[in-house]
Amino acid sequence: MADRTGVLFVCLGNICRSPLAHALFVQKLSERGLLDTFEVDSAGTAAYHAGEPPDPRTVEVLRKHGVRALGTARQVVAADFDRFDHILAMDQSNLRALQDLAPKGAAARVHRMLEPTRGGDVPDPYYGGDQGFEHVYTLIDGALEEWLARWTP
Ligand code: 4NP
Repeated sequence: MADRTGVLFVCLGNICRSPLAHALFVQKLSERGLLDTFEVDSAGTAAYHAGEPPDPRTVEVLRKHGVRALGTARQVVAADFDRFDHILAMDQSNLRALQDLAPKGAAARVHRMLEPTRGGDVPDPYYGGDQGFEHVYTLIDGALEEWLARWTP
């Protein structure tokens, strides 16, 4: 529906950071009764993990916070720039990849995930330990509250 606000979360592989943001955002929308007013998805700038479920460490950190993981990894496509109003990149490298991919005159606005909290990049937790995922959760949780405040009356 055209009147829904479209939000796409993007990282590199679409198995760690962006599915975490996707699931947590859906949870926050659900708690506020706003699920019907948003269209939400996540994607990766790379296709390495396309078709895979979220990384078990993302599933676990979400579960610890009472959030159910969802989605299957896919790569960003040009049509996403028409389908979504806001595309949130987890880091500067993803942001640059998205800017390179954006069709001329694309509707979507591309931002860095932590822009509202001036947090820089959401660090890539793939090669780190579980501590990294908790840190990623905390950063994303704080930023999502700010994005929600911007996007809702
Ligand atoms: P994500 O993490 O971008 O947060 O999903 C990564 C997942 C996979 C790889 C790198 C980062 N990888 O190199 O396969």
